[in-house]
Amino acid sequence: MNNSSSNRILILLFSLLLISPLALSWKKDEFRNCDQTPFCKRARSRKPGACNLIATGVAISDDGDLTAKLIPRTLENNEAQDPPIEKDNSKPLLLTISVYQDGIFRFKIDEDPSLNPPKKRFEVPDVIIDEFSSKKLYLQRLSEEKIDNDSEYSSVVYLDDDYEGVLRHDPFEVFVRDRVSKKRVLSVNSNGLFDFEQLREKTEGEDWQERFRSHTDSRPYGPQSISFDVSFFGADFVSGIPEHATSLALKPTRGPGVEDGFSEPYRLFNLDVFEYLHESPFGLYGSIPFMISHGKSRGTSGFFWLNAAEMQIDVFGSGWNAGEDKIMLPVDEHRIDTLWMSEAGVVDAFFFVGPGPKDVVKQYTSVTGRPAMPQLFATAYHQCRWNYRDEEDVFGVDSKFDEHDIPYDVLWLDIEHTDGKRYFTWDKILFPNPAEMQNKLAAKGRHMVTIVDPHIKRDDAYHIHKEASDNGYYVKEANGKDFDGWCWPGSSSYVDVVNPEIRSWWADKFSYDQYVGSTPSLYIWNDMNEPSVFNGPEVSMPRDALHYGNVEHRELHNAYGYYFHMASSNGLLKRGNGNDRPFVLSRAFFPGSQRYGAIWTGDNTADWDHLRVSIPMVLTLGLTGIIFSGADVGGFFGNPEPELLVRWYQVGAYYPFFRAHAHQDTKRREPWLFGDRNTELIREAIHTRYMYLPYYYTLFREANLTGTPVLRPLWMEFPSDEETFSNDEAFMVGNSLLVQGIYTERAKKVSVYLPGEESWYDARTGTTYKGGKRYKLDATEESIPAFQRAGTIIPRKDRFRRSSTQMENDPYTLVITLNSSKEAEGELYIDDGKSFEFQQGAYVHRRFTFSSGKLTSSSLSHSAATNTAVKSSTVLPGSTVERIILLGLPSSAKSAVVEPGKQKVEIELGPLTMRRGQTHMYPTIRKPNVRITDDWTIQIL
Ligand code: NOJ
Repeated sequence: MNNSSSNRILILLFSLLLISPLALSWKKDEFRNCDQTPFCKRARSRKPGACNLIATGVAISDDGDLTAKLIPRTLENNEAQDPPIEKDNSKPLLLTISVYQDGIFRFKIDEDPSLNPPKKRFEVPDVIIDEFSSKKLYLQRLSEEKIDNDSEYSSVVYLDDDYEGVLRHDPFEVFVRDRVSKKRVLSVNSNGLFDFEQLREKTEGEDWQERFRSHTDSRPYGPQSISFDVSFFGADFVSGIPEHATSLALKPTRGPGVEDGFSEPYRLFNLDVFEYLHESPFGLYGSIPFMISHGKSRGTSGFFWLNAAEMQIDVFGSGWNAGEDKIMLPVDEHRIDTLWMSEAGVVDAFFFVGPGPKDVVKQYTSVTGRPAMPQLFATAYHQCRWNYRDEEDVFGVDSKFDEHDIPYDVLWLDIEHTDGKRYFTWDKILFPNPAEMQNKLAAKGRHMVTIVDPHIKRDDAYHIHKEASDNGYYVKEANGKDFDGWCWPGSSSYVDVVNPEIRSWWADKFSYDQYVGSTPSLYIWNDMNEPSVFNGPEVSMPRDALHYGNVEHRELHNAYGYYFHMASSNGLLKRGNGNDRPFVLSRAFFPGSQRYGAIWTGDNTADWDHLRVSIPMVLTLGLTGIIFSGADVGGFFGNPEPELLVRWYQVGAYYPFFRAHAHQDTKRREPWLFGDRNTELIREAIHTRYMYLPYYYTLFREANLTGTPVLRPLWMEFPSDEETFSNDEAFMVGNSLLVQGIYTERAKKVSVYLPGEESWYDARTGTTYKGGKRYKLDATEESIPAFQRAGTIIPRKDRFRRSSTQMENDPYTLVITLNSSKEAEGELYIDDGKSFEFQQGAYVHRRFTFSSGKLTSSSLSHSAATNTAVKSSTVLPGSTVERIILLGLPSSAKSAVVEPGKQKVEIELGPLTMRRGQTHMYPTIRKPNVRITDDWTIQIL
């Protein structure tokens, strides 16, 4: 080959590289890696056993906490010195251990305020709910004990009847252990990696500034990071710490078994990442520093660190410390060691002992709050695109749904609907009559959502900007001026929602008189709230920007979006006089976000890998409290092939939050644009969701009461089945439905693992499969595989309407799948779908049980049958059961008797669903004439 042809090849290769999806995607260089992040690099280079702290002065405080001072071992003899030796990191740290009901153990470590540190370190307020404080136990029992051949004593406190908390004095270690076996469950500093950089004065000639690309961070307070190791015992895997696009079971990032692309720690730093990768530990839009471990023998436990600064977390592969000389715990393949590093803040951390997966999420949400109960409409299908152009476009899309007999509940408007990206305004040409537009949709029971972002256009003629700048409501630069960054509207400032006064002002902006053109059927979408700043470091706000109370942005970065979400949600609450449940979708999130609304996984891409990763992403969010989430159906960037779009609808129909969305540069992709067959398939997928809405709503209520997610990993329902541990392609909807996605093009076969000892019934055909086995099934075009677990009862509504609102009075179908003992049970929760009256008891929660040939409907909890609020509600009158399908009932059963009334009904054969072409027929009781809210029984004869 001569020179010029090889050059040509090189040029060709180079251009191919440029246009390859990889080159077009994630702009890696815009973001820092651990090596470019000094605190991360420092922490990562520490060796096991490097920590030389010991606990001294252990006592029980007046508040009933266990307190101690942590001092370097070498200073032990100087402890009495007053003032203590002023050396870097040599001042004592204060440790406080508290214990709460339900097996929750909390420890805090901070500098000693009486030693006048240069600044008070930031503790995140407004995340831990008030009720949690009332669960604190006053520590009384304290015993001293020598453990692990130590020469020094450790302090042991009561946690609950099964667990104890231990503060080991020397070496310093905190752990919880099983009371009987004395085995550790969770621990901190077992590997001696704890480090706490105390605030101090700058020494002469020291440079605290940090530079990244063209940005300089002034870092006026210098190094202040914290890092420590956390160990999970009896663990087969760890999960949690969203948001990352990766598997549910987290891969190791250090030590043996590190895969390509996973040598960076999992980053928790809310960022607007353009075209994120589908497999990466890189941090995305939200951060929840809560990790769950699970193991076959010990069960589930959890660790949560309430800290809003940048965090990096390493998961060590087993044997990572082999060869290190200072190993404190023997190598154990069922222990998973992790390293947690944060740039600032304090240690305020929690151990949750489980022991089951549902116990852990309950414990975590008892600290950070249970998920809000959404309105019914919000659990149905949402249609979005950047952008529906104008009112005509809106009406066109709306009527096409009707024309094609596809239900939908919400139509969304992205940034282009505003007057020049000034939120709370309308483009007068494109949307001249917004209220009328919303009312037209509302007449069909439909709702609209508009976008409201936190960046405010710096335009004196824009009332929001005028008020915010006049009142000093913006985040400030380090020099005290309003921070001015670049976002959609151009030059913008950012509301300082960390301040409660500013949140209240912001909330008022949603009132009908201030948000002109808004109506009661309009709800809200918060985007770009990481916050995204196009010309800022890593596309965000400089870390030395200042918030309310002189708190640096670095200290609370990950909570900014949370506060914005909170303020918007409170705005809708105010607007509705506290009796209309808010709906606000947010892109950024933090622990506690579950109290304010839904989350979506941001700007994914229309490819199969992104479809696949959406499931572990949604499952992980659910495990960490964010039970109401979903990915953009179809993929935000790019144009999905019809097959991918259809498959995405089929998977997405099961996401807790089900919304199609697309970038403005993509081709239109409403469900009817790909030919009749694809329209039919998408219609069917959406219909499936509408059919299961009563079941979903019941699951949302369960989440609201207990924190248990709507979508669950298989191991949450089958915790001792190891085969489920690495399965994140299938998922459970509640405890009754198992769904397996199809994530490959032109799939002919699909492999499905059905756990447990009981059978499973194909949710479309009724075919049964034995549990505890893997099957290779034919992949059909019509749907992805879904199975109802034997022993369950699922409530459905099978009549298809234009929207969920129009299904309110529709009758129910109960699908009963009998187990090997010919038994089954299920629940149904109903309220008005809208207000907060359910909190006053205005709801119906039914329990259905089938045993000894008899189906019984009884009230599960406090029945509202006598409650006038429910009687007057529109939901209940007319709601009867129109069909009971009994899978697994012997074909000899021909009739049944309904009580009260001794009414005899026939058992006929009928289809399992209302879909066309159903060939299998199953025992069905049609029109048993019972009301869903009443107590009744049906005895099979
Ligand atoms: C980014 C969001 O992630 C996306 O969903 C939205 O369409 C654009 N911003 C425009 O608002």
